[in-house]
Amino acid sequence: MIRVNENYQKLQSSYLFSEISKRIADFQKENPDTPIIKMGIGDVTLPLPKVCLEAFHKAVDELGNAATFRGYGPEQGYGFLREKIAEVDFQKRGADIAADEIFVSDGAKCDSGNIQELFADDIVIAVPDPVYPVYVDSNVMAGRTGSFTDGRYANLVYLESTPGNNFVPDLPNQKVDLIYLCFPNNPTGATISKDVLKKWVEYAKENNALIIYDAAYVQFIRDPSLPHSIFEIKGAREVAIELRSYSKTAGFTGTRCAYTVIPKDCFIYTSTGEKIQLHGLWNRRQTTKFNGVSYPVQRAAEAVYSAAGQKEIKELADYYLENAKLIRETFTSLGFACTGGENSPYIWVQTNTDSWEFFNTLLYKAQVVTTPGSGFGKCGEGFLRVSAFNSRENVKKALASITAVPGKK
Ligand code: MLT
Repeated sequence: MIRVNENYQKLQSSYLFSEISKRIADFQKENPDTPIIKMGIGDVTLPLPKVCLEAFHKAVDELGNAATFRGYGPEQGYGFLREKIAEVDFQKRGADIAADEIFVSDGAKCDSGNIQELFADDIVIAVPDPVYPVYVDSNVMAGRTGSFTDGRYANLVYLESTPGNNFVPDLPNQKVDLIYLCFPNNPTGATISKDVLKKWVEYAKENNALIIYDAAYVQFIRDPSLPHSIFEIKGAREVAIELRSYSKTAGFTGTRCAYTVIPKDCFIYTSTGEKIQLHGLWNRRQTTKFNGVSYPVQRAAEAVYSAAGQKEIKELADYYLENAKLIRETFTSLGFACTGGENSPYIWVQTNTDSWEFFNTLLYKAQVVTTPGSGFGKCGEGFLRVSAFNSRENVKKALASITAVPGKK
């Protein structure tokens, strides 16, 4: 008898963004002629940078010519891209990362889910609350979380991010083995300082723990004092891996390209304490289960590192940051406390009301889609996440409609 992985039965309803899509579909069925503005899922709206597009086209043409055709590429990614990543994203910022420590992939979401198959079933996992749901759900699927009661999984350690700690969680007061950190944060938009990040690295070293550092939103950092990579922190090479993505950086949400950095000094342990190099394990996993990102997509990603590419991606992020500023200013002027939106495309709005109810109010009364904070965890209840990924025109329209909703506050 073919049997189900019963861990899937422990998952809470559907994936957050699928649930939102369902609610939008219901609204549109009832109101087929009413246009809505989407500021829910963080999906980019501006086209690919010109340099990326040109590189993409050129690479496609190469595939149509026998002399320049390429078949399977290296599972870890082409050298031309890995070299640029190491140099521009890390070495230039003082982070000691080599090209062969970069694994190019089709998404940070996929990597964050896939990596945990390298870890034992009974490790103790710490996740932020609120949290990008993939970190939690992928561990539920793997059977590491226990059952769900009263809004939480029994075996997870929740790192609460609240107004009280400026949405940067405190170190756990127990020993954990795996820690997920995301800065600039999804969903709160909060950032972490070098000094605080250093404390997390020290904690991981003391406890032989591993940090998965998700830096998918690094392109939105404008405060020069903030770390762009965990590898700017001394000692992080031994206890951290980092996820990066071109999705929000260069408009690749549909194109798909990302990478994970796994330093060769990073070790995990057998039950008897033997050290195993994580880099080798991940390489083994990828060469078995993954065939690399397509050649034209990697050429498009490489173009990000040209002088013109760097200029274009800065302009892209600046555009969304200007939207974020407008969103934050409007919600603040309406009397809501806000965080994020300054070094991040997300604004975390404190509504102090039921999150889904507030979501529905904005959908039905302003025709604006947001993301209810409770979808990111218990600490998200009473909050709303607003994404700055949309056109200026739509953002302005959405903010005007929200402002006109009676009794929202
Ligand atoms: C989000 O809205 O949180 C992101 O778009 C989801 C993702 O990047 O997978």
